[in-house]
Amino acid sequence: MKPQPRFLQQRVIGQPTTDGAGVDLVRMIGHRGLMDLDPFLMLDAFRSDDPDSYIAGFPSHPHRGFETVTYLLNGRMRHKDNAGNEGVIEPGGIQWMTAGRGIVHSEMPEQQDGLLEGFQLWINLPASDKMTQPVYQEFSQAEIPTESRAGAEIRVITGRTCEGTIGPVEQPLTDPLYLDVTLESKTDFSEVLPTEHNAFVYVINGELQLSDETGKSVTLGRDQLGILGSGDSVDLSSLDGGARFLLIAGKPLNEPVVRAGPFVMNTEQELQRAFYDFQTGNF
Ligand code: CO
Repeated sequence: MKPQPRFLQQRVIGQPTTDGAGVDLVRMIGHRGLMDLDPFLMLDAFRSDDPDSYIAGFPSHPHRGFETVTYLLNGRMRHKDNAGNEGVIEPGGIQWMTAGRGIVHSEMPEQQDGLLEGFQLWINLPASDKMTQPVYQEFSQAEIPTESRAGAEIRVITGRTCEGTIGPVEQPLTDPLYLDVTLESKTDFSEVLPTEHNAFVYVINGELQLSDETGKSVTLGRDQLGILGSGDSVDLSSLDGGARFLLIAGKPLNEPVVRAGPFVMNTEQELQRAFYDFQTGNF
């Protein structure tokens, strides 16, 4: 059967906001315009060379019931948790943290000045795995494979491209695809996406062109996210000057989402339990 291309279903504009102890960021998923895109609960983008906008970082805070995925393009972030894990995420590195039943950690810039740029994506866990033991998958820039195509470079963090490059992160529960794609000027790009997955593109730099379901060309620019409709592939192209974007897809869980701040559970009772466990030091 001929692949059915996914058209652009919705364009989402990011919401500038502040989180942690006062970090400026643009929230792409997790705001009124797009509360979630199952299994994705939140996507934050931060990019600043003004230390005042990031230096306060994200001091000690908990998570339960989902995964946090930090991908840094520039700068360095130190993380430290209540189980004694500690490390520094370097430029081009990924930290895929399955918070599971709970961790308490801090995420702080490991720099006094200079550019800090990256993303944090939250991915839900199914009910069966919300209370699993916390696990980290961490990979440096050198450990993430890059696939080259005509006019395109693709960093494969997780999932498998149509040319067979496989990313190092493993997560069978939501079977995610996470690609960081750089296109030269006026370059066409196609990729296969599992039919049942929800998928989106997020533009980091430059401009991308995609078709909507009426066949009309739509341009997406910086800090714009495009939700892809149903189908099994995506076709897009860069405009003059090229583009860099994230292409992310994941299997929806189709479960109730009950969330408050850093806790994402299935029921109100489980949410209350998370607050109780955190307040009584049981994380
Ligand atoms: Co955190």
